[in-house]
Amino acid sequence: MNIFFVISLKQKKMKRIAVFTSGGDSPGMNACIRAVVRTAIYNNIQVFGIKRGYDGLIKGDLEELHSHSVANILQRGGTILKSARSDEFRTADGRKKAYDTINKFEIDGLIGIGGDGTFTGANIFNQEYNVPFIGIPGTIDNDLFGTDLTIGYDTALNTVIDAVDKIRDTASSHNRLFFIEVMGKDAGFIALRSGIATGAEAILVPETKTYIDNLIAKLEAGRRKSKTSGIVIVSEGDDAGGAFEIAKKVKEKFDYYDTRVSVLGHLQRGGKPSARDRVLAAELGNSAVENLVNNETNKMVGIVNNKIVLTPFDHAIKHHKELNKNLLKLVDILSI
Ligand code: F6P
Repeated sequence: MNIFFVISLKQKKMKRIAVFTSGGDSPGMNACIRAVVRTAIYNNIQVFGIKRGYDGLIKGDLEELHSHSVANILQRGGTILKSARSDEFRTADGRKKAYDTINKFEIDGLIGIGGDGTFTGANIFNQEYNVPFIGIPGTIDNDLFGTDLTIGYDTALNTVIDAVDKIRDTASSHNRLFFIEVMGKDAGFIALRSGIATGAEAILVPETKTYIDNLIAKLEAGRRKSKTSGIVIVSEGDDAGGAFEIAKKVKEKFDYYDTRVSVLGHLQRGGKPSARDRVLAAELGNSAVENLVNNETNKMVGIVNNKIVLTPFDHAIKHHKELNKNLLKLVDILSI
């Protein structure tokens, strides 16, 4: 048997695949679903959409997707397949039901678009049932190892920047100090880049310990230089508590500024995906299907230094991506 024949035999195996979105939604997921569906159809593979992530897989809530099913969605936030964090998939019984669905629908491979929790589940499922499985990083948190960017991160950053710019207008008019809480319960990527992009006085992230006295010293130095207002970006997972708690602690010792708190919350997860997220979603969706066809499994597709790379799920989730230390320092240098 020659190599060409072996490859074509392998490619024939992937006749029917299913795609789902899971965990916190992120802008660009729809663009990615579209890329998966159309690449599959292009390769003569039948595609099913699974509703509400692993919950839909457990319940058998699947429907076939056609090229027209994904028309006019790439510019929309959210996910047409809906998303969920499934408690049942954490149980062996739940995963057995998911496997039964895969057999019932004769699914040859799965593509999951999501984050840390999604790939943790995928990794366990793969060890138990060995179903071909490729992951695509879709989360606003950008906290997956094996990709420079996750789908949705760039859009979320732009949303935060837009909000902080507006808050700065009013902060400056009223001589106020604002503590603005952004998402990222385990990672400070949104806080770090939005802080630099908005010229924040300080950023507080889960990756480094927060010392309230250091923060006060910084704010005090700003006051001495006649700064009349300020912005502190707080990642929701910061170890000193949320933005309200930190604002309170600061105010107790340093009450020069009239202080306010703004929690940006879930508006960071919605909206039209940016150009960058749309293109990323297209490339990764396409690559996920091609990798399934090439018999890759238990890996996440990502882009590192402009090249598509595959990273085993257990590396993507456990080798936490590090915050760029130079950028952290830059916040301090540029906010003097
Ligand atoms: O995982 C993405 C994320 O947006 C986190 O940054 C945030 O902490 C979390 O989701 C919020 O999740 P939920 O929508 O379930 O409250």
